[in-house]
Amino acid sequence: MAYTVPKLTNYSAAALERAASELLSALGRESAVVKNEADWKILRDRWMARKNGILTQINDLWLKGAPKEAKREVGQLVNSLKSQVEAKVAISQLAIGVRFPKQSVPVPADWGAVFPSSEKVDITLPGIRRPIGAEHPVMRTSREMVAVFQKLGYSVADGPVIETDYYNFEALNFPPNHPARDTQDTLFVAGQQTKPLRERLLLRTHTSPVQIRTMEKMRPPIRIVIPGTVHRNDPPDASHSPMFHQIEGLAVDTNITFGDLKGTLDHAMKEFFGSSVKTSFRPSFFPFTEPSAEMFVSCFICGGSGRRGSDNAPCRPCKQTGWIEILGCGMVDPNVFEFVKDNGYDPKKVSGFAFGMGADRIALLKYGVDDLQAFFQGDVRFLQQFA
Ligand code: PHE
Repeated sequence: MAYTVPKLTNYSAAALERAASELLSALGRESAVVKNEADWKILRDRWMARKNGILTQINDLWLKGAPKEAKREVGQLVNSLKSQVEAKVAISQLAIGVRFPKQSVPVPADWGAVFPSSEKVDITLPGIRRPIGAEHPVMRTSREMVAVFQKLGYSVADGPVIETDYYNFEALNFPPNHPARDTQDTLFVAGQQTKPLRERLLLRTHTSPVQIRTMEKMRPPIRIVIPGTVHRNDPPDASHSPMFHQIEGLAVDTNITFGDLKGTLDHAMKEFFGSSVKTSFRPSFFPFTEPSAEMFVSCFICGGSGRRGSDNAPCRPCKQTGWIEILGCGMVDPNVFEFVKDNGYDPKKVSGFAFGMGADRIALLKYGVDDLQAFFQGDVRFLQQFA
């Protein structure tokens, strides 16, 4: 006999429980026999139709007819039954696959219509191989260099490519109108003249602004390595590109010395290029480091002799000097710490070193590529050589 909703006269807990369990077992029985979409629609309408569906009936007969003191309890029961009915109806819909109707699978006879007889497909031919690609040599170089520093306990940081004048210059101790700014060949975002100088946008010319951004967020001690894209207004040629990649490093703690800088970078170069390379530091200038240096590694192509091969040919990458310039570095200038002093970087208490190198240039030397542009032209024949 089909289930009908009884009128309740007894609202005791036991009576309510009995009524609910009769309803739920009817729901179980009826949903179990749903075989197709037509059956499911009957189930749905019988239980959920707004007009006289079973849910509407229990609302009218049980809840509205309940005495005041039972209202709360009956309300909760009706709500719980409602969600159980809805769930059961949804599950039986999925079970018969109404939501995901089976696709009709084309049988071989159908192919005649798809491909005219002149274009029969020879299914015995080999398939088309999809090339899986390879890591770009610049990305690979950058990742390998970052890994060297990660092994030393450095963590990776990053920041925006579109920067403000403040982070790219001012907080790095390039005062407004200072001539050191000119060396950066900056690409400025147009239409910024109405803003105060420090808020004006530009394409970052180096990854050094991330030093400041990270020191604003993290208190000392810190050791970070920062790979990223930078831009400068340099016309493209065999050794220049308006877009290139840098890897920056920063270590700040109490008592960091130039000896730590030398030891760390010497170790990193031996890890990266091989244990036989030597390093050499020569004085230089950057506004945000003092003292500053350029670091050279002994030429890993000619072994430092300046000459290559059995015919003693001149070594081009090191211009026969036996040394290759790899990076700029130095001790963090106390003026830089002044900008992040409130976050624990008191220049009287902490010291640090920083360095920055060009990933593209290192990749160029490492892979013996003679034109930087090859990295950015996307010629598959070039890139395939690194697969
Ligand atoms: N930012 C400098 C450049 O792009 C490199 C550098 C980084 C030098 C950190 C010293 C310390 O030329």
